[in-house]
Amino acid sequence: MTVAISPTTGRSLREFALLYHDFLPSQEPLREALCVLGNGYFATRGALEWVRAGGPHYPGTYLAGGYNRLETEISGRVVENEDLVNWPNWLPLTFRVEGGEWFSLERVTLTEYTQELDMRRGLLNRTLRFTDEAGRESELRTRRFVHMDKAHLAGLEWTLTARNWSGTVEIESGIDGSVQNAGVERYRALNAKHLRVLATGASSEHSIYLTCETVQSHVRMCQAVRTEVFDEHDRPAAAERRTLDSGEEIAQRIVCTLEQNKPLRVEKVLALFTSRDFAISEPEVEARERIERLESVERLLETHTEAWERLWHRSAIKIEVAQPSCEAQTLLNLHIFHMLQTTSMNTIDWDAGVPARGWHGEAYRGHIFWDEIFIFPYMNLTLPELTRTLLLYRYYRLEQARFNARDAGFRGAMYPWQSGSNGREETQVLHLNPKSGRWLPDHTHRQRHVNGAIAYNIWQYYEATGDLEFLTFYGAEMLLEIARFWASVASYDACRGRYVIRHVVGPDEFHTHYPGSDEPGLDNNTYTNVLAVWTLGTAKRALEHLDEDRTQELCQKLDLTDEEFNRWEEIRRRMFVPFHADETGELVPSQFEGYEALDEFDWDGYRATYGDIQRLDRILEAEGDAPDHYKASKQADVLMLFYLFGHEQLEALFAEMGYELTPRMRERTLDYYSRRTSHGSTLSRVVNAWVCTCMDREHGWDWFTEALRSDIDDIQGGTTSEGIHLGAMAGTVDLVQRSYTGIEMRDGVLWFNPQLPGSLKRLKTRLRYHGHWLA
Ligand code: BGC
Repeated sequence: MTVAISPTTGRSLREFALLYHDFLPSQEPLREALCVLGNGYFATRGALEWVRAGGPHYPGTYLAGGYNRLETEISGRVVENEDLVNWPNWLPLTFRVEGGEWFSLERVTLTEYTQELDMRRGLLNRTLRFTDEAGRESELRTRRFVHMDKAHLAGLEWTLTARNWSGTVEIESGIDGSVQNAGVERYRALNAKHLRVLATGASSEHSIYLTCETVQSHVRMCQAVRTEVFDEHDRPAAAERRTLDSGEEIAQRIVCTLEQNKPLRVEKVLALFTSRDFAISEPEVEARERIERLESVERLLETHTEAWERLWHRSAIKIEVAQPSCEAQTLLNLHIFHMLQTTSMNTIDWDAGVPARGWHGEAYRGHIFWDEIFIFPYMNLTLPELTRTLLLYRYYRLEQARFNARDAGFRGAMYPWQSGSNGREETQVLHLNPKSGRWLPDHTHRQRHVNGAIAYNIWQYYEATGDLEFLTFYGAEMLLEIARFWASVASYDACRGRYVIRHVVGPDEFHTHYPGSDEPGLDNNTYTNVLAVWTLGTAKRALEHLDEDRTQELCQKLDLTDEEFNRWEEIRRRMFVPFHADETGELVPSQFEGYEALDEFDWDGYRATYGDIQRLDRILEAEGDAPDHYKASKQADVLMLFYLFGHEQLEALFAEMGYELTPRMRERTLDYYSRRTSHGSTLSRVVNAWVCTCMDREHGWDWFTEALRSDIDDIQGGTTSEGIHLGAMAGTVDLVQRSYTGIEMRDGVLWFNPQLPGSLKRLKTRLRYHGHWLA
């Protein structure tokens, strides 16, 4: 089944394909991000082969965990940012006829343009029919893959046919090492030259290579490409070759004859190695040797598509919806597809986290956030080995997290809000408001709740897999150190007779300090406090799962005493949670202490003036105001608690602290905050969908379908092109998998409570629980 072509996007959908039926420059940045091909080790944007960065085009190739730091002077301060490096572009492939102009869409009349992202097989295909200025009619068919099984390989295939002419064509195939990071407009004032080219050259008659290194982290990469040309009988075509080498770019020019209606096939294959790889001598040695041993594109495509077949067999979710359209199914497939391209089998044992924006663009610099909490649940039930690797990314940075805590005056381990290479805090200190042009201090790093998310993820992984080895040697230690951190952050408020957590920021990034205050942070963010309580209890409980020897070892290593455990227990039972009355006089948990004193925001007025007010923080700052003054949130904050914990579990947590949480309060809380949220983060709709679904399946479905459109329709107006929103993508898949089926994993038991909304007729999923596959 196909969804009809939309006139605004030129797009149609098939169950496993995105199809574009024309070339629309304005849509190109979005399409490049949606058509990224990757294999969990590296990824390449869906840019055309013959373009350079500029206008609507931005070719980008990213290595999982490939970072570099650069300093820039901004507003009189030197700031350092760690970026996800844009590595050399391996795509360049172009041609010209009879020594004329190089091919470009601007110079021809297109009679057909189709682009297909084939998600079942992991291919990006294009067909172009065009007439050039001299009246020559031609056809170009292209295919591209980033090999899903052989992590270091990728390839391109072009089939060029002259329809009404014959002549000489010159093909140029290269590697461009002159690239910089320029994918995000807001970052353009920052230094962006991360690479230094170390060597270029021809490896053999058909292959060239380029070796480069990041200027600060000294990660080396070598790309070697082999380009071959075949005639219509698939025999190597007679061609003359020469190499052009500018030092930063290298290319081969291949001159051959094209005869009318006799297709010429060009194969370009890539071998890419880095100094971070296992089992190598040195990247250049590996890439140059490997390129000479590479099979044909045909053979590579076979093994590539087989790998995708295996992945889909493991991960597919099949839904049947009430309307006769495949849209929801296609979008779920798209979301699973991009998850598997960001982390896949190739990621297992690789030292990288899961980035909020995929390896699809440069927004948020490839950093690792709490978004894991939205991404891991689906992985836990399909490919838990991936969650294990991604949790190890955190474990390997535990020592740095201890330093982070100590530097901030705390104990235990404090993971950073944004994490990159070595686990230090990577949140930018200044950010640009593109609406006002001002650089502003950024206090979002005070989102200590990321630590609760890591603890939660460890426990969920353990619940799903029963992986005692992981808990024994890695998980428990992180849990204990995070619990210790919470205990050191909490202080006793004698007036209240309760523990409080001050100076933090909750998930809602619109509130980073109190109105008029210079001191960053807020007190008693409900989500943070309750998550801290949960961690303190869970860390202790985790120890009970370990054997006695290991428990003793850990207590000795971490210097944990009964006295400390008793303090955790005391904090857990007497943590403070703020409440205030809503319009009807009923109590709801306050997002943070003092929230009730903020002004109501004029939602209707601002919507009437600005239309899209998702990022009303930028609008208000540009007006000389600030969102801190208002009861206006960027995203779900208190509601996160209902997202993470089923009602029973949350009720029990509140009861242990001496508070009552009723189903009525959950309803009021959802209603209260939904009306005061701009959903400036794509994560927000996922949370609303989840919480709504627990109460009202139909209403929840509306939120779900909105969340599904986050990236395909770029609902934030320009952010998807800078990288997909992996948390929202994964969150929607998880909604189908766990929320509609009512799956919960608690205390070694898998619970089901399936109840499908009317719009969803049938749902089929496979899942792995404690090593067993269930359908
Ligand atoms: C959201 C955060 C999120 C980050 C990365 C921000 O816009 O407010 O919650 O972690 O994006 O996705």
